[in-house]
Amino acid sequence: MALTVVACGGGGDDSGGGADAAAGEKLFASAVIGTQAGCITCHRWTPDEVIVGPSMAGIADAGDREAGKSAEDYIRESILTPDTYLVEGFPAGTMPQVWGDELSDEQLNQIVAYLLTLK
Ligand code: HEC
Repeated sequence: MALTVVACGGGGDDSGGGADAAAGEKLFASAVIGTQAGCITCHRWTPDEVIVGPSMAGIADAGDREAGKSAEDYIRESILTPDTYLVEGFPAGTMPQVWGDELSDEQLNQIVAYLLTLK
């Protein structure tokens, strides 16, 4: 008898380094993270739902956007230094440049793992 474990989001390429995507999803959806308004204040994950920032739908494919970048590196840099890659139509300096301090390494890895499930 074969037992198959189905990860939410599927795909099987677990590039989040084993970090807990479910914990990342909770964190992403928290109204407050540390001393800051959380990601959910500005981002949704449904396609085309733009509030202050762009929708996170399809962000797992972001590796195609910058030559030589994996989606994981792109997402990590977009969180830690948001102005490195600006999404067209959004001004620099809107996304808080605080996440390197507000998130522990583990929390950052969890959020990245979660975003990598949004194909
Ligand atoms: C105050 C609003 C705000 C908050 C809070 C915020 N962001 Fe952003 N974010 C933006 C804006 C605006 C952009 C688009 C401009 C840019 O690329 O920096 C963006 C861009 C991004 C991008 C790049 C998107 C792409 O398609 O390339 C990622 C990834 C991201 N945010 C993740 C997060 C995560 C994770 C959090 C919570 C830890 C967060 N953001 C919190 C406003 C915000």
